[in-house]
Amino acid sequence: MPAMFAWQDADSQLRVVVAGSGGGIGRAIVEALLERPGVGKVYALTRRPEQGAAPGADTGSRLEQRRADIGSDDSLAALAASISAPIDLVIVASGVLHSEALAPERRSRDLDAAAMLEVLRINTVVPALIGKHFLPLLNKRRKAAFTALSARVGSIADNRLGGWTSYRASKAALNMLLKNFAIEFRRSHPLAVVAGLHPGTVDTALSKPFTGRVPAEQLFTPERSAAYLLDVIDRLEPADSGSVFAWDGQRIPY
Ligand SMILES: NC(=O)c1ccc[n+]([C@@H]2O[C@H](COP(=O)([O-])OP(=O)(O)OC[C@H]3O[C@@H](n4cnc5c(N)ncnc54)[C@H](OP(=O)(O)O)[C@@H]3O)[C@@H](O)[C@H]2O)c1
Repeated sequence: MPAMFAWQDADSQLRVVVAGSGGGIGRAIVEALLERPGVGKVYALTRRPEQGAAPGADTGSRLEQRRADIGSDDSLAALAASISAPIDLVIVASGVLHSEALAPERRSRDLDAAAMLEVLRINTVVPALIGKHFLPLLNKRRKAAFTALSARVGSIADNRLGGWTSYRASKAALNMLLKNFAIEFRRSHPLAVVAGLHPGTVDTALSKPFTGRVPAEQLFTPERSAAYLLDVIDRLEPADSGSVFAWDGQRIPY
């Protein structure tokens, strides 16, 4: 059985919010959290609760799936009001790279305003609104964390190939947003960490069209990525707030 989080007292029970819990990585994160005895409650926010985590028989009331429109300020305000503070950990696992209506651009001539705005809305504005409503609920008495799945390709410093302009820009903007949140909440929540996380290349619907040439050992299952990410979160310290970390704990320059 995986350990409790290192930051817990022996008798404390963590309360966690996962947004985008119906996605490949989000669902694996919820299931991994429920395997940890120190996690008392997981609020799983998704558009599709029917796609959500398949909890083991003994999870009982520890999992609360909520159908949520995480793109709506009002909907998030109502959700936050219905979830009592304190929350110990928020993981934003939502995001988009492609859909029926949009594909990552190869070159500048592929850019389309509507598609670009939609990627920015989902990858940047949604985490911003989740932060707006859930950061104030973070536990002030012990370590707490607000994390969002970013991507290594969102690093400006690491950009050697170009392409995927909207997705890269949306994740670069997400990284800036997380840094701003870290600065703003340092005073009111000195034990809190705000961080971006790169999950690796993970075999999900999001990556499926692009993983043909990825060597098998570099393509993680969602379960493997979720386990790595929870370990990274476990090791985060308040001094790490505002940074982006890869699945192996390496800091990603941005
Ligand atoms: N897979 C990879 O290789 C990889 C690599 C780097 C970074 N990431 C990042 O990791 C995160 C999770 O990706 P994933 O691979 O798990 O993708 P996924 O399986 O496609 O899941 C993404 C989830 O995001 C939510 N979402 C998508 N469009 C939305 C919309 N219009 N409104 C509200 N929610 C929406 C949905 O959650 P619900 O179904 O719960 O509504 C969806 O299931 C993303 O931020 C992605 O950028 C992934």
